[in-house]
Amino acid sequence: IASGYKAWLSYRRLADQPGFESMAEQLSTISVFGSGGKEVLLKTAVAELQLGLQALLGKPILIIQEQEQMQGGIVLGQFHQDGSSGESFGTRYFNESSIKNAGSEGFAIVFSKSDNCLAIGAASPAGLLYGVFHLLRLIAAGETRVQDLNVAQAPANGLRMIDHWDNFDGSVERGYAGRSFLYENNRFLTTESDRMRDYARLLASIGINSLCINNVNVHHEETYFITPRCLPEIARIADILKDYGIKLFLSVNFAAPIELKELDTADPLDSRVADWWKRQTAVVYEAVPDFGGFLVKADSENRPGPFTYDRDHADGANMLADALRPFGGIVIWRCFVYNCKQDWRDRKTDRARAAYDHFQPLDGRFADNVALQIKNGPLDFQVREPVSPLFGGLEKTNQVLEFQIAQEYTGQQRHVCYLVPQWKEVLDFNTFAKGEQAPVKSIASGSFWGNKIGGIAAVSNTGRDGNWTGHLLAQANWYGFGRLAWNPELTAEEIAQEWTTLTFGHDEGVNALIIDMLMNSWRIYESYTAPLGIGWMVNPNHHYGPNVDGYEFSQWGTYHYSDHKGLGVDRTTATGTGYSAQYLGENASIYNSLEQCPDELLLFFHHVPYTHVLHSGKTVIQHIYDTHFHGAEEAGGLLAQWRTLKGRIEDGLYLQVESRLQEQAEHAKEWRDQINTYFHRKSGIPDAQGRRIY
Ligand code: GCU
Repeated sequence: IASGYKAWLSYRRLADQPGFESMAEQLSTISVFGSGGKEVLLKTAVAELQLGLQALLGKPILIIQEQEQMQGGIVLGQFHQDGSSGESFGTRYFNESSIKNAGSEGFAIVFSKSDNCLAIGAASPAGLLYGVFHLLRLIAAGETRVQDLNVAQAPANGLRMIDHWDNFDGSVERGYAGRSFLYENNRFLTTESDRMRDYARLLASIGINSLCINNVNVHHEETYFITPRCLPEIARIADILKDYGIKLFLSVNFAAPIELKELDTADPLDSRVADWWKRQTAVVYEAVPDFGGFLVKADSENRPGPFTYDRDHADGANMLADALRPFGGIVIWRCFVYNCKQDWRDRKTDRARAAYDHFQPLDGRFADNVALQIKNGPLDFQVREPVSPLFGGLEKTNQVLEFQIAQEYTGQQRHVCYLVPQWKEVLDFNTFAKGEQAPVKSIASGSFWGNKIGGIAAVSNTGRDGNWTGHLLAQANWYGFGRLAWNPELTAEEIAQEWTTLTFGHDEGVNALIIDMLMNSWRIYESYTAPLGIGWMVNPNHHYGPNVDGYEFSQWGTYHYSDHKGLGVDRTTATGTGYSAQYLGENASIYNSLEQCPDELLLFFHHVPYTHVLHSGKTVIQHIYDTHFHGAEEAGGLLAQWRTLKGRIEDGLYLQVESRLQEQAEHAKEWRDQINTYFHRKSGIPDAQGRRIY
């Protein structure tokens, strides 16, 4: 097994610290309360608990099948289950508020003095599995006082989803961790390997409950995923996922009836098309009874969709929703819809406006088993973007927030860029819906408007690499996504702390250093790449490395408009595209105002002269020079920091990160020099500090 393969479930044996002995003694047995124990998830929970404790405590843990007396050990049970005395597990061990806080999918853990046991309770077997992983996480992180434990929590988001952009041929769109571990050469890889099971464990341990296994760009071969040609293999994947409480979703091709040569149209209002999808959906459910539903990218980047037939996206989504409804399935319909054939000479069309302009007018028209999946920003996962104004713009529509764990525009898992601080900013952003406190996190979860479906999805950053994510430190983004989707109130530091301890062990000096690196990494990456919210400036197609004009004269709608006087996109209402007016409350006026717009988003909203003075007191051009010189230096600093860990962590882990940090340090210089040189030549303004510009 490659170093890093077990990721945060490496379960290193704990040292004999104070309290360890008595904890180890306390946690010697596992039993299941009452007559439960037959559900598959409960079996998984017990097996995971045994496996984890044995490794952490370094001793065998007994599973007591029929629990006669509740004395000692750990006991798992569902709240409503009755024991032989007729008393339910819930009432025996937990108070009302714990049971309430555990909700339908969460858990409660408490130590019972009278029974001298640690009780893990939940309303559902899935909750027990999450409770088990929580307990293991606490113990692995150094908690020894199990007798003081009293926790109860439920996930904030119903849908906690990871989307794979894997293609059937084994390539991964925007994959930076090797090829797909799901497919190769139009065959399924997973069925014979244990890798899928290992993957499912990692997902469940961070609370993920939904997985879409194929790219949103559904090409010819993957169009067959919803047919008997592929369904038996897909059902086997679904079975593995099911053991870990994860529902399988598929991306579908909106033009599937045509692509599969069964109809000559995909018009959502044509009854033959609707019937075709009903039949096909029934076929899917026959093979995968607990199938989650369809993920759809339509009328976007050359994918087919309802626009071909002059229908709108509500028509398209609702037609699929009808087909899924009898089985309890849902449609996740992506809002990443924009004109990708724009003329760069056209200064009126603004890609940033597109999601809102397309979907806000449809608010209220979507069926209740449709959720709109909205990227965190209006463009495309840049290092810095404002939050999509569509959050706040929809009042009667289920919504799902979409992040990208894959670091497409944030260093492609060759640079370290811990994204949790960025995601936190998005989640905490106040949309001012209804004029009040309406942060994105409560809109996405559905709690704000009382939506039936809500949650967060993210594009996966995993692949066939031995450590799953290419860059070992990119595992922190994967881990962090799951933890945040469960509990958006966790801080970025808390998550970094958890992840480093679970991954590297208990050396506080080591962990403090890695946490420091992670916490600075997003700011550092931003400082040597595209400045002040303008985004892009990357090489076309693969998107790695600097190329200031890479997209400047292209059709993709991503421009910086630099000339000899200044740069930035005017998105104001008076002279620009009017995008700023898509926001509510003070957000609209703050972004619209040159004086009030935050520095980090200045060039997203305004076209300014190089001599414009930022709130920081620096001119825009001097800010560009300073951040690029400093950022590249800091990238080198990350490598120097890491090198102090040599010999203090396992070589296998040390070396893989060292080589990536070396590349980052070099590559950051390339970014620095291209950006500084470009703007020096354009503006003719020298660096106030006279540093070397080419
Ligand atoms: C980005 C990415 C594409 C992807 C698209 C999407 O544009 O570069 O590869 O298909 O997002 O989210 O659909």
